[in-house]
Amino acid sequence: MFPYKRNRRLRTNESIRSLVRETSLSPTDFMLPIFVAEGKDVKIEIPSMPGIYRQSLDNTIKEVREIWDLGIKAVNIYVKVDDTLKDNTGKEAWNANGLMQQTIRAIKDAVPEMIVMPDVALDPFSIYGHDGIVENGKIINDATVDALVRMSLSHAEAGADFVAPSDMMDGRIGAIRRGLEENNFQDVGIMSYSAKYASAFYGPFRDALDSAPGFGDKKTYQMDYANRLEAIREAQLDVAEGADIVMVKPGLCYLDIVREVKNAVEVPVAVYQVSGEYAMVKAASERGWLNHDAVMLEQLYAIKRAGASIISTYFAKEAAVLLNK
Ligand code: PBG
Repeated sequence: MFPYKRNRRLRTNESIRSLVRETSLSPTDFMLPIFVAEGKDVKIEIPSMPGIYRQSLDNTIKEVREIWDLGIKAVNIYVKVDDTLKDNTGKEAWNANGLMQQTIRAIKDAVPEMIVMPDVALDPFSIYGHDGIVENGKIINDATVDALVRMSLSHAEAGADFVAPSDMMDGRIGAIRRGLEENNFQDVGIMSYSAKYASAFYGPFRDALDSAPGFGDKKTYQMDYANRLEAIREAQLDVAEGADIVMVKPGLCYLDIVREVKNAVEVPVAVYQVSGEYAMVKAASERGWLNHDAVMLEQLYAIKRAGASIISTYFAKEAAVLLNK
Protein backbone atom coordinates (compact mmCIF):
# COMPACT_ATOMS: atom_id res chain seq x y z
CA MET A 1 0.00 0.00 0.00
CA PHE A 2 1.27 3.46 -0.90
CA PRO A 3 2.31 5.19 2.34
CA TYR A 4 -0.53 6.87 4.16
CA LYS A 5 1.93 7.01 7.00
CA ARG A 6 4.25 9.85 6.02
CA ASN A 7 6.78 10.89 8.63
CA ARG A 8 7.73 13.94 6.59
CA ARG A 9 4.44 15.65 7.54
CA LEU A 10 5.94 16.37 10.93
CA ARG A 11 9.02 17.92 9.31
CA THR A 12 7.24 20.29 6.93
CA ASN A 13 8.28 23.55 8.56
CA GLU A 14 9.98 24.89 11.67
CA SER A 15 6.68 25.48 13.47
CA ILE A 16 5.59 21.86 13.34
CA ARG A 17 9.14 20.66 13.95
CA SER A 18 9.28 22.75 17.10
CA LEU A 19 5.92 21.36 18.25
CA VAL A 20 7.05 17.74 18.01
CA ARG A 21 10.66 18.21 19.10
CA GLU A 22 11.51 15.58 21.72
CA THR A 23 14.50 17.24 23.34
CA SER A 24 14.98 20.79 24.50
CA LEU A 25 18.13 22.62 25.42
CA SER A 26 18.42 25.63 27.67
CA PRO A 27 21.17 27.51 29.51
CA THR A 28 19.92 25.96 32.75
CA ASP A 29 21.12 22.60 31.44
CA PHE A 30 24.73 23.76 31.54
CA MET A 31 27.51 23.93 34.08
CA LEU A 32 30.62 25.88 33.17
CA PRO A 33 34.01 24.48 34.23
CA ILE A 34 36.27 27.32 35.35
CA PHE A 35 40.01 27.38 35.93
CA VAL A 36 41.20 29.61 38.73
CA ALA A 37 44.80 30.77 39.15
CA GLU A 38 46.64 32.73 41.85
CA GLY A 39 47.24 36.47 41.52
CA LYS A 40 45.40 39.58 40.43
CA ASP A 41 44.10 40.56 37.03
CA VAL A 42 45.41 37.34 35.52
CA LYS A 43 43.67 36.04 32.40
CA ILE A 44 45.67 33.59 30.33
CA GLU A 45 44.09 31.82 27.41
CA ILE A 46 44.73 28.08 27.32
CA PRO A 47 46.39 27.51 23.94
CA SER A 48 44.55 24.27 23.19
CA MET A 49 41.22 25.72 24.39
CA PRO A 50 40.52 28.99 22.57
CA GLY A 51 38.10 31.16 24.54
CA ILE A 52 38.85 29.42 27.85
CA TYR A 53 41.09 31.10 30.37
CA ARG A 54 43.00 30.45 33.52
CA GLN A 55 42.14 33.48 35.57
CA SER A 56 42.58 35.04 38.96
CA LEU A 57 39.71 35.37 41.39
CA ASP A 58 38.77 38.95 40.42
CA ASN A 59 38.28 37.96 36.78
CA THR A 60 36.60 34.72 37.81
CA ILE A 61 33.96 36.65 39.73
CA LYS A 62 33.34 38.86 36.70
CA GLU A 63 32.79 35.78 34.58
CA VAL A 64 30.51 34.16 37.16
CA ARG A 65 28.28 37.26 37.20
CA GLU A 66 28.24 37.30 33.42
CA ILE A 67 27.18 33.65 33.07
CA TRP A 68 24.54 34.02 35.79
CA ASP A 69 22.98 36.76 33.66
CA LEU A 70 22.99 34.34 30.74
CA GLY A 71 20.98 31.83 32.74
CA ILE A 72 23.77 29.42 33.70
CA LYS A 73 23.27 28.28 37.26
CA ALA A 74 26.24 26.08 38.10
CA VAL A 75 30.02 26.12 37.92
CA ASN A 76 32.64 23.41 38.32
CA ILE A 77 35.77 24.81 39.84
CA TYR A 78 39.35 23.70 39.18
CA VAL A 79 42.36 25.47 40.60
CA LYS A 80 45.94 25.76 39.48
CA VAL A 81 48.25 26.12 42.43
CA ASP A 82 51.96 26.86 42.49
CA ASP A 83 54.33 23.88 42.27
CA THR A 84 55.74 24.78 45.68
CA LEU A 85 52.35 23.91 47.23
CA LYS A 86 52.33 20.41 45.77
CA ASP A 87 53.41 17.29 47.64
CA ASN A 88 52.49 13.62 47.74
CA THR A 89 49.73 13.97 50.36
CA GLY A 90 47.98 16.77 48.47
CA LYS A 91 47.42 18.56 51.78
CA GLU A 92 47.05 21.97 50.13
CA ALA A 93 43.71 20.57 48.92
CA TRP A 94 42.15 21.06 52.36
CA ASN A 95 43.87 24.30 53.32
CA ALA A 96 40.98 26.40 54.70
CA ASN A 97 42.54 29.41 52.97
CA GLY A 98 43.60 27.64 49.83
CA LEU A 99 42.76 28.97 46.40
CA MET A 100 39.78 26.60 46.02
CA GLN A 101 38.31 27.55 49.39
CA GLN A 102 38.77 31.27 48.67
CA THR A 103 37.12 30.82 45.31
CA ILE A 104 34.10 29.01 46.74
CA ARG A 105 33.58 31.76 49.33
CA ALA A 106 34.02 34.55 46.79
CA ILE A 107 31.54 33.06 44.32
CA LYS A 108 28.91 32.36 46.98
CA ASP A 109 29.40 35.92 48.20
CA ALA A 110 29.05 37.50 44.77
CA VAL A 111 26.27 35.31 43.36
CA PRO A 112 24.72 33.39 46.25
CA GLU A 113 22.32 31.41 44.08
CA MET A 114 25.03 30.06 41.80
CA ILE A 115 25.49 26.33 42.45
CA VAL A 116 29.16 25.84 43.21
CA MET A 117 30.64 22.41 42.60
CA PRO A 118 34.34 22.24 43.45
CA ASP A 119 36.38 19.42 41.98
CA VAL A 120 37.47 16.84 44.54
CA ALA A 121 40.68 15.11 43.46
CA LEU A 122 44.32 15.40 44.43
CA ASP A 123 45.93 15.80 41.01
CA PRO A 124 46.24 19.62 40.99
CA PHE A 125 47.97 19.34 44.38
CA SER A 126 50.09 16.23 43.74
CA ILE A 127 53.76 16.36 42.79
CA TYR A 128 53.02 13.27 40.71
CA GLY A 129 49.96 14.69 38.97
CA HIS A 130 47.97 11.67 40.10
CA ASP A 131 44.52 11.71 41.67
CA GLY A 132 45.75 9.85 44.72
CA ILE A 133 48.59 9.37 47.14
CA VAL A 134 51.50 7.44 45.64
CA GLU A 135 53.45 4.68 47.38
CA ASN A 136 56.01 2.58 45.54
CA GLY A 137 54.64 3.70 42.21
CA LYS A 138 51.06 2.76 43.14
CA ILE A 139 48.03 4.91 43.85
CA ILE A 140 46.91 4.02 47.38
CA ASN A 141 43.12 3.86 47.57
CA ASP A 142 42.08 4.13 51.21
CA ALA A 143 44.60 6.76 52.34
CA THR A 144 43.49 8.79 49.32
CA VAL A 145 39.85 8.45 50.34
CA ASP A 146 40.71 9.89 53.78
CA ALA A 147 42.32 12.86 52.04
CA LEU A 148 39.28 13.32 49.77
CA VAL A 149 36.99 13.40 52.82
CA ARG A 150 39.09 16.17 54.38
CA MET A 151 39.09 18.02 51.09
CA SER A 152 35.30 17.71 50.75
CA LEU A 153 34.75 18.94 54.31
CA SER A 154 36.88 22.00 53.66
CA HIS A 155 34.82 22.72 50.54
CA ALA A 156 31.60 22.34 52.51
CA GLU A 157 33.00 24.61 55.20
CA ALA A 158 33.73 27.23 52.55
CA GLY A 159 30.13 27.08 51.32
CA ALA A 160 30.09 24.62 48.42
CA ASP A 161 26.61 23.45 47.39
CA PHE A 162 27.91 20.15 46.04
CA VAL A 163 31.26 18.41 46.06
CA ALA A 164 32.27 16.68 42.85
CA PRO A 165 34.77 13.84 43.29
CA SER A 166 36.51 13.18 39.97
CA ASP A 167 39.19 10.79 41.24
CA MET A 168 37.65 7.31 40.78
CA MET A 169 38.91 5.83 44.07
CA ASP A 170 36.76 3.00 45.45
CA GLY A 171 34.46 3.84 48.34
CA ARG A 172 34.96 7.57 48.25
CA ILE A 173 31.31 8.48 47.82
CA GLY A 174 30.24 6.58 50.94
CA ALA A 175 33.14 7.98 52.95
CA ILE A 176 32.48 11.56 51.82
CA ARG A 177 28.73 11.20 52.49
CA ARG A 178 29.42 9.91 56.00
CA GLY A 179 31.91 12.71 56.64
CA LEU A 180 29.43 15.35 55.51
CA GLU A 181 26.60 13.91 57.62
CA GLU A 182 28.77 13.62 60.72
CA ASN A 183 29.86 17.23 60.39
CA ASN A 184 26.41 18.73 59.94
CA PHE A 185 26.71 19.23 56.21
CA GLN A 186 23.65 17.13 55.43
CA ASP A 187 22.54 19.68 52.80
CA VAL A 188 25.76 19.50 50.81
CA GLY A 189 25.26 17.22 47.82
CA ILE A 190 27.59 14.92 45.94
CA MET A 191 27.92 14.85 42.19
CA SER A 192 30.02 11.79 41.54
CA TYR A 193 32.17 11.35 38.48
CA SER A 194 30.93 7.76 38.44
CA ALA A 195 31.90 6.50 35.00
CA LYS A 196 35.05 8.41 34.25
CA TYR A 197 37.07 6.80 31.52
CA ALA A 198 40.85 6.88 31.09
CA SER A 199 40.64 9.15 28.08
CA ALA A 200 43.03 10.89 25.74
CA PHE A 201 40.47 13.68 25.48
CA TYR A 202 41.66 15.19 28.79
CA GLY A 203 44.90 16.48 27.21
CA PRO A 204 44.02 20.20 26.96
CA PHE A 205 42.68 20.22 30.55
CA ARG A 206 45.98 18.86 31.82
CA ASP A 207 47.74 21.65 29.89
CA ALA A 208 45.45 24.15 31.61
CA LEU A 209 46.25 22.94 35.12
CA ASP A 210 49.72 21.64 34.40
CA SER A 211 48.48 18.39 35.94
CA ALA A 212 49.58 15.64 33.55
CA PRO A 213 50.68 12.51 35.45
CA GLY A 214 54.43 12.56 36.05
CA PHE A 215 54.72 8.80 35.60
CA GLY A 216 52.48 6.14 34.13
CA ASP A 217 48.85 6.82 33.32
CA LYS A 218 45.51 6.82 35.13
CA LYS A 219 44.35 3.39 34.01
CA THR A 220 44.49 1.80 37.47
CA TYR A 221 41.68 4.06 38.62
CA GLN A 222 39.90 5.54 35.60
CA MET A 223 37.82 3.14 33.51
CA ASP A 224 38.81 1.17 30.45
CA TYR A 225 36.96 2.62 27.48
CA ALA A 226 36.21 -0.87 26.23
CA ASN A 227 33.81 -1.43 29.13
CA ARG A 228 30.10 -0.82 29.44
CA LEU A 229 28.71 -2.97 32.29
CA GLU A 230 31.39 -1.61 34.59
CA ALA A 231 29.92 1.87 34.13
CA ILE A 232 26.56 0.67 35.36
CA ARG A 233 28.17 -1.01 38.36
CA GLU A 234 30.03 2.20 39.18
CA ALA A 235 26.93 4.36 38.89
CA GLN A 236 24.74 2.01 40.94
CA LEU A 237 27.35 1.71 43.63
CA ASP A 238 27.75 5.49 43.83
CA VAL A 239 23.99 5.91 44.17
CA ALA A 240 23.94 3.26 46.93
CA GLU A 241 26.77 5.11 48.67
CA GLY A 242 24.87 8.38 48.57
CA ALA A 243 25.58 10.20 45.29
CA ASP A 244 22.87 12.74 44.40
CA ILE A 245 23.98 13.06 40.78
CA VAL A 246 26.11 10.67 38.74
CA MET A 247 28.30 11.73 35.87
CA VAL A 248 29.58 10.11 32.71
CA LYS A 249 32.78 11.49 31.22
CA PRO A 250 33.80 12.22 28.46
CA GLY A 251 30.63 12.95 26.49
CA LEU A 252 30.40 12.33 22.79
CA CYS A 253 32.25 9.01 22.56
CA TYR A 254 30.25 7.69 25.51
CA LEU A 255 26.62 8.43 24.68
CA ASP A 256 25.75 4.73 24.77
CA ILE A 257 26.98 4.71 28.37
CA VAL A 258 24.97 7.83 29.16
CA ARG A 259 21.78 6.17 28.00
CA GLU A 260 22.47 2.93 29.84
CA VAL A 261 23.34 4.69 33.06
CA LYS A 262 20.25 6.87 32.66
CA ASN A 263 18.13 3.72 32.42
CA ALA A 264 19.89 2.01 35.31
CA VAL A 265 19.72 4.67 38.04
CA GLU A 266 17.06 7.01 39.28
CA VAL A 267 19.18 10.04 40.07
CA PRO A 268 19.96 12.78 37.53
CA VAL A 269 22.78 12.01 35.12
CA ALA A 270 25.36 14.63 34.25
CA VAL A 271 27.74 14.50 31.30
CA TYR A 272 31.09 16.21 31.03
CA GLN A 273 31.88 17.27 27.50
CA VAL A 274 35.62 17.46 28.09
CA SER A 275 38.48 19.66 26.97
CA GLY A 276 39.54 17.54 23.99
CA GLU A 277 36.02 17.48 22.62
CA TYR A 278 35.93 21.27 22.83
CA ALA A 279 39.37 21.58 21.23
CA MET A 280 38.35 19.45 18.24
CA VAL A 281 35.37 21.65 17.42
CA LYS A 282 37.41 24.83 17.84
CA ALA A 283 40.28 23.57 15.68
CA ALA A 284 38.12 22.29 12.86
CA SER A 285 35.94 25.39 12.77
CA GLU A 286 38.96 27.73 12.85
CA ARG A 287 40.05 26.03 9.64
CA GLY A 288 36.63 26.48 8.17
CA TRP A 289 36.09 22.73 8.05
CA LEU A 290 33.03 22.71 10.33
CA ASN A 291 30.31 25.21 11.14
CA HIS A 292 31.11 25.98 14.78
CA ASP A 293 27.70 26.91 16.13
CA ALA A 294 25.83 24.23 14.25
CA VAL A 295 28.21 21.50 15.39
CA MET A 296 28.20 22.80 18.96
CA LEU A 297 24.42 22.70 19.21
CA GLU A 298 24.16 19.32 17.52
CA GLN A 299 26.57 17.84 20.06
CA LEU A 300 24.84 19.41 23.05
CA TYR A 301 21.45 18.19 21.84
CA ALA A 302 22.88 14.71 21.30
CA ILE A 303 24.20 14.63 24.86
CA LYS A 304 20.85 15.77 26.20
CA ARG A 305 18.96 13.28 24.02
CA ALA A 306 21.17 10.45 25.30
CA GLY A 307 19.88 11.10 28.79
CA ALA A 308 21.86 13.92 30.39
CA SER A 309 20.01 16.24 32.74
CA ILE A 310 23.08 18.42 33.15
CA ILE A 311 25.95 19.09 30.76
CA SER A 312 29.25 20.35 31.99
CA THR A 313 30.69 22.09 28.95
CA TYR A 314 33.23 24.70 27.93
CA PHE A 315 30.64 25.79 25.36
CA ALA A 316 28.21 26.85 28.12
CA LYS A 317 28.58 30.57 27.49
CA GLU A 318 28.54 30.51 23.71
CA ALA A 319 25.65 28.06 23.65
CA ALA A 320 23.68 30.11 26.17
CA VAL A 321 24.14 33.25 24.07
CA LEU A 322 22.87 31.40 21.00
CA LEU A 323 19.93 29.84 22.82
CA ASN A 324 18.93 33.17 24.37
CA LYS A 325 18.63 34.85 20.94
C1 PBG B 1 41.21 15.26 37.26
C2 PBG B 1 40.28 15.77 36.22
C3 PBG B 1 40.53 15.70 34.84
C4 PBG B 1 39.46 16.32 34.21
C5 PBG B 1 38.59 16.76 35.20
N1 PBG B 1 39.10 16.41 36.44
C6 PBG B 1 41.70 15.18 34.12
C7 PBG B 1 42.20 13.85 34.41
O1 PBG B 1 41.51 12.98 34.94
O2 PBG B 1 43.37 13.65 34.15
C8 PBG B 1 39.36 16.48 32.73
C9 PBG B 1 38.35 17.44 32.21
C10 PBG B 1 38.56 17.85 30.80
O3 PBG B 1 39.36 17.27 30.04
O4 PBG B 1 37.90 18.82 30.40
N2 PBG B 1 40.71 15.00 38.49
